[in-house]
Formats: sequence, structure tokens, C-alpha cells
Amino acid sequence: MDALCFDMYGTLCDTSSVTTALRRELDASAAHAANIDATWRQRQLEYAQQRSQMDDYATFRAVTADALDYALDYHNESPSDQTHARILDAYDTLDAFPDALDALDDLRGRFDLAVLSNGNPEMLETLAANTGIEERVSRILSADAVSTFKPTPAVYEHAANELEKGLDECWLVSSNAWDVAGAANAGMNTAWVNRDNDPEERVGGRATVEVNSLAALSDAL
Ligand code: LAC
Repeated sequence: MDALCFDMYGTLCDTSSVTTALRRELDASAAHAANIDATWRQRQLEYAQQRSQMDDYATFRAVTADALDYALDYHNESPSDQTHARILDAYDTLDAFPDALDALDDLRGRFDLAVLSNGNPEMLETLAANTGIEERVSRILSADAVSTFKPTPAVYEHAANELEKGLDECWLVSSNAWDVAGAANAGMNTAWVNRDNDPEERVGGRATVEVNSLAALSDAL
């Protein structure tokens, strides 16, 4: 049985749900909160990749906190430490995408289901428990085990080892095009959940399968 390794942030769970916390905690307009969120997410991914390149690992929680600091500063917000902490905690209560749990239920039985994320184990386990993802997957695998981040090949190799499968018996399922490119580069099969109909990346490997929603995944595989 092949394994499906699901990316968490942006694939199973909607990171834009933190805008609710930004609006509430900063008394911000919808547009201002969306701008902070976009900078936050962008810097979060960049800092993770840059830390991999610099060989200077920190947990994804710490990276996410640093990226939030930057985003608030960039958008001229200077909240108290308590407010900052409450905004960061929103990462524990992100919403699963509306089709995520049904998709996992549809695929269970045909595939060994796992999460494979840059998130550190504590934040992943909290979010998986809060959303109902935990009871639908056999493993929650974190890049933290190899002290670097996707798209470094070592993270995908770690997942295959943990699942006791070859890389070619594993599929990375992600909405993040860079993650798909990285997993394909490492030798995994890939399913790109391309919700926004983006063009494919010009780096790394290509998607084996492309769908526009998690709901479409079962039929495509
Ligand atoms: C994840 C983020 C980075 O690995 O998308 O879950």
C-alpha cells in the first residue's frame, strides 16, 4: 500500500484563518489583517528555507513567531507580548479546509495516511487534535526530526524511512508548489492541490498528479 504524506499548513489547514485573531487582537480592518497575514506567511516560509540554507535550525514555532514579529513591525503594529502570544496561538486553532476530513476518510483504506510538515511535533499534534486530523492519519511526521525544513531532501527521506517504504511508494500531497517541487526532486510521487490554478514552478520536480481540491484527490489517484 502506498503512503500519502499530507502537508499541513496551507494544504489540510487554512493558514488564512489567523486573520480572525489579527482582527480581534489588533482591532484591525479586514484588509489590514489580510496584509499582515500575507507578510507573516511569506516570511515564515522564507525564514524556514533560509534557516535550512544557513544550517541554523530553529523550530517552526520559533520561525513562525519571528515571522509574526517582522510582519507586525512591517505593518507598523507594536502589540504587547501577551497580544503577540495570543496571535501566535491562533496557529493551534486553524480551520481544516472544508473538504479535508472527508478527503482523508475517502482515502483511508486505500493508502497509509500521514502528515509530513515543517511544523514541530507539539504544534502539529495540537492542531491535528483540534481539527480531527489526528484520528484519521497513522503518523504525524515532522521535519524537526532531521533539524531542517522541506524542501531539503532529508525531510522527505525521513518520512519514507519512518513509513518503512521506498520514496517511490510515497506521495507528497501539498498545495505548496515549492513543496511538490521539493518532494518530486527527492524522488517521491506528488499530488499538487492547486486551488488557485497557479502555473507550475520552474525548479525541482514536476507534479505526478494535479487537482484543484482535496475532494478531487481520491478519483485522481
Ligand atoms: C508545512 C508548511 C510549511 O510543512 O506548509 O506544513
